[in-house]
Amino acid sequence: MNRIWRHAAVAALGLSLAACGRAGTDRATTVGFAQIGSESGWRAAETKLAISAAQARGITLKVADGQQRQENQIKAIRSFIAQGVGAIFLAPVVSTGWDDVLAEAKAAKIPVVLLDRQITTQDPSLFLTAVAADNVHEGQVAGEWLVGKVGAKPCRVVELQGTVGSTLVADRKKGFDQAIAKTPDIKIVRTQSGEFTRAKGKEVMEGFIKAENAAGICAVYAHNDDMMIGAIQAMKAAGLKPGTEILTVSIDGVPDIFKAMADGEANATVELAPDMAARGFDVLAAYQKDGKAPPKFVQTPSKLYLPDTAAAEYARRKDLY
Ligand code: AHR
Repeated sequence: MNRIWRHAAVAALGLSLAACGRAGTDRATTVGFAQIGSESGWRAAETKLAISAAQARGITLKVADGQQRQENQIKAIRSFIAQGVGAIFLAPVVSTGWDDVLAEAKAAKIPVVLLDRQITTQDPSLFLTAVAADNVHEGQVAGEWLVGKVGAKPCRVVELQGTVGSTLVADRKKGFDQAIAKTPDIKIVRTQSGEFTRAKGKEVMEGFIKAENAAGICAVYAHNDDMMIGAIQAMKAAGLKPGTEILTVSIDGVPDIFKAMADGEANATVELAPDMAARGFDVLAAYQKDGKAPPKFVQTPSKLYLPDTAAAEYARRKDLY
């Protein structure tokens, strides 16, 4: 694969001097990854798996931690361009504001692969492809599970959203709203961002519990598992029983949510595949081999997991992440 990529990259990208980037980088085997940060267990897993997928393919992966800030990610992309990397992976923290820097990458003939989040742009030629889940679908899977569980009974739901300004937050909300719209008695009564972190998820849930006088909450929908773990801590501290008195459904599939499900403290999670980079490397290798542009969206699966397999999933995942 590496040899194929190395040789094919020279031809497909039309780089006569592809073996050496501007700063002495081996362009054909070097990829820069402008990562968001480490806000969640899922994010940490994505970075870890990206590093091992690169190693397995003989690729040098340069990871830049954006610490949740778009300006840091933009700086990292400019630095990758200056170093002459062969490709750039970008997990965009927010959806807009990428056009200028991606135009610079395009001018330098460096293909950009978006990982796990989409961007909003009028010019789709600024990126090669996006490897991501269908986030509307994820929200629908979560919402349909809740509808199936609650049936025709009234249910007041509180929602913990992720990072404001990212496409997937709007989409995860939209999908969930669409699913529960079929049953008018299931309603989202409170929505707030928990910024995809455990600490903020806990803090926001404490506020929901106070505002709703605890007994008013029937279910929690969290846009990621980390916020749900924080919410579970808040519910337990308030003397509530998550998983039985209050239903939970979240997204990601990190080990701790499987542990919580196995312990009867959570009900459902929709997995977001953490191996986005491996899929990105494969798309790049195919592109660089035959020069044929991949589809603009490479969709990863969104599988629902329930407590019946939670103990086994926890055992399988705890060292992988
Ligand atoms: O973009 C994917 C999301 O980002 C994950 O669901 C969340 O945990 C992460 O922070």
